[in-house]
Amino acid sequence: MKYNVTFMPDNQVVEVEKGTSLIKAASQAGIFIKSSCGGKGTCGACKVVVLEGEAQTDRTGNLTPEQLSRGVRLGCRTFVEDNLTVEVPPESRLQDHQVLLENNSSLLRESSKDLLSHYGFHPLARKVQVSCSEPSLTDNASDWARLSLEIKRTLQSEKPIKIPLSVMQTLPEALRKGNWNLSVTLSDLESEYTVIRVEPANSKPAFGLAIDIGTTTVVVYLVNLDNGEVIDKQGAYNKQAHFGDDVISRIVYAVESEESLKEMQNAVVESLNALIGDILKRQNLESSDLATAVISANTTMAQLFLGIDPRYIRLEPYIPTANWIPSVPAKEIGLNILPEGLIHTFPSVASYVGGDIVSGTLATDIANSEEIVLFIDIGTNGEIVLGNQDWLVSCACSAGPCFEGGGILFGMRAMPGAIERVVIDPETLDVSLKVIGRVPPVGICGSGLVDCLAKLREAGVIDRAGNFQMGHPSQSDRLRATDEDKEFVLSWAHQSGGDKDVVITENDVKNLIRAKGAIYAGIRSLLQTVAMEMEMIDRIIIGGGFGNYLNVHESVRIGLLPDLPHDKFEFFGNSSVKGAHLALLSRKAWKEAEELGRKMTYIELSIGNTFMDEFVSALFLPHTDLTLFPSIKE
Ligand code: FES
Repeated sequence: MKYNVTFMPDNQVVEVEKGTSLIKAASQAGIFIKSSCGGKGTCGACKVVVLEGEAQTDRTGNLTPEQLSRGVRLGCRTFVEDNLTVEVPPESRLQDHQVLLENNSSLLRESSKDLLSHYGFHPLARKVQVSCSEPSLTDNASDWARLSLEIKRTLQSEKPIKIPLSVMQTLPEALRKGNWNLSVTLSDLESEYTVIRVEPANSKPAFGLAIDIGTTTVVVYLVNLDNGEVIDKQGAYNKQAHFGDDVISRIVYAVESEESLKEMQNAVVESLNALIGDILKRQNLESSDLATAVISANTTMAQLFLGIDPRYIRLEPYIPTANWIPSVPAKEIGLNILPEGLIHTFPSVASYVGGDIVSGTLATDIANSEEIVLFIDIGTNGEIVLGNQDWLVSCACSAGPCFEGGGILFGMRAMPGAIERVVIDPETLDVSLKVIGRVPPVGICGSGLVDCLAKLREAGVIDRAGNFQMGHPSQSDRLRATDEDKEFVLSWAHQSGGDKDVVITENDVKNLIRAKGAIYAGIRSLLQTVAMEMEMIDRIIIGGGFGNYLNVHESVRIGLLPDLPHDKFEFFGNSSVKGAHLALLSRKAWKEAEELGRKMTYIELSIGNTFMDEFVSALFLPHTDLTLFPSIKE
C-alpha cells in the first residue's frame, strides 16, 4: 500500500510504501533531515511536525507532552500509515549545501602544476586518434588486429592492449562509419591499455572525474584529460547522511542485512550520479565522454561505495577488507560514466586512516619534503599525518562531526546564513555577527563555532571547562536556562533567517571541547610516538571541510591547534579531491599513492593510555597545562 507525503514548506509530494520512516520519505523528496544518532531515536535532531494525517510513532525520545500535542515527532521513528502533510523545520534540515570548492581552480593551482610536472602528465585514461588502413581481399587482417596495431604504432608503445567484449561489439560499425578513422578512448595503466570506447573520429577530448566521498559530503571535479584543467565541479550531501552522521552509525546500519548494505551503496552512488548528471548537463556532455574516475574516500566510505561489508572496521582489532583496492569498470558499481571506464580507489592505511588521507598526503607532497610536516584533516573524523621524505606516521582521533555542524543544535556547513565570526562585548554580552552571504543568520558553521567558543570564554560566559556562568555580571537575557539546557542567544528570532532564536547551548560547547580536545590529543600522542616536541614541527598543513576559513588565532585560543608561530600554518582546503585530481592526471602520482599507502605507519591511539590521558588534559580551554599555550594570557 502506498501513500502520499507532502513536505512543507517545500510543498514536495512523494509517494512511499506504508511503513516508510518520515526521514526516508523526506530524502526521497530531496529533503535531507539531520540524523545524528542514525535513527535510534536518541538525538532528537530529526524533529518534524505532522500537520495532517495519521503516522505511527514507536519512539518519542525526549519530546515534551507540549511538543507531542503540536504534532512534533521524531522523523526517524515515525512511519507513514496514511496520506500525510509534514513540516520540516529549518533546524532539522541538512541545509542546501555548498561544499569547499575553491574559486581559483579552473586551472591547476601553481603548487599542483609543480607537482604534476614532477610526476609527469600521463592521465589514467586518454583519447587517441587512429587511422586504420582499409581491408581488402589481399589485406584481410581482422578489425581488431588492424586497430590494435595502429594504436601501438600511434602511441609508440609495446604495452599489451585489451578490449572488453562489449566494446569489441561496437568496433565493426564504428570503423566503417568513421571511414577507418577512429577516436579511441583507452584506460592507460602502467602495465597495459584497455580500449574502453571506439567511435568515428571526432575532436572531443576525454574527460575524467576526481571524486571525494566524505562521510558528510561528496565532491566531483570534471577534468579535461587532454590538458588537466578542472572545467566544472560540484558538491552535495552524501545521501547516506540519513543513516547517521558518522561512519560508525553507517556501519551499524549497513550490516543489518544484505539489503541495507546495498541501500548504503546505492545512496552514495546516487549522490554521485546526481552531481555527475548536473555537470554533464551544464557542460553539454554525455556520460560516455567520462573515461575514468579516481575516488578518494575514508576506508568505510570506500567499502560502502564498493559494496564491501564494512563490519570488521568497527570491531576490534578494526580490520579493513583491503588496503589496496583493484580498479573496477564503472558498470560494476553503477557510476554514470563510460561502462568500461575504470574506477580507481585510493588505497588506505588502516580502518581509520583511509584513502582520503593518502590522497591528501600525495597532494601536500609531504613524502618529498625535507621539513617535518604535520598534516591535519579536520572533517567528520580528525586524521593526522606527521613526517617528511624519510618517514610518515599517522593516526585518527574521533573528533565527531561538530566542525561540520553535526551534533550542534544550530550547526551547519559554511554556506549563506552561517555565522562565521562572533564578537561578544564582555560587559554587556551584546553580540555582533559576521554571516556568510550577509543574510540573516540561520545557524553557525565550524569556523564560527571555533570563534564563538573563544569569544564565550573571553567574555566570561563559560569557564575553562565549558560550564555556563549563569551569574554573569551583565545579567544579560542572552544567557538563559531552558528546560533542556543552558544557552546563549547569538541572534534573536526577529533578526534571524528562521523563526527561532539562534543559540549555542552548554551541550554544544561540551561537544566542541571534546572535538577540539580529541584533535589536540591526537597531535600530542603522535608526536610522543616519535619522541618529538611540538616546536620541532616546521609546517602545519590543515585540510578538510573548513580548512580554508579557520582562524588560527582563535583555534589556538581554544586549544584546537598548537601554540606555534602563525606563519607555520597553511590551509589547503579539500586535500582529498586535490590528490584525486593529481592522480587522475598522472600514472606516476597514482603509483606514488599506492606506495604511500604501504609506507605510512599507522598508530592505533586506543592502545595504551597516552591518548586518553592527553584527551582528558585537553578538555579545558585551552588546556589543563597552560605552559603548552604560552601566548595565551588567562
Ligand atoms: Fe532521529 Fe536521532 S532521534 S535521528
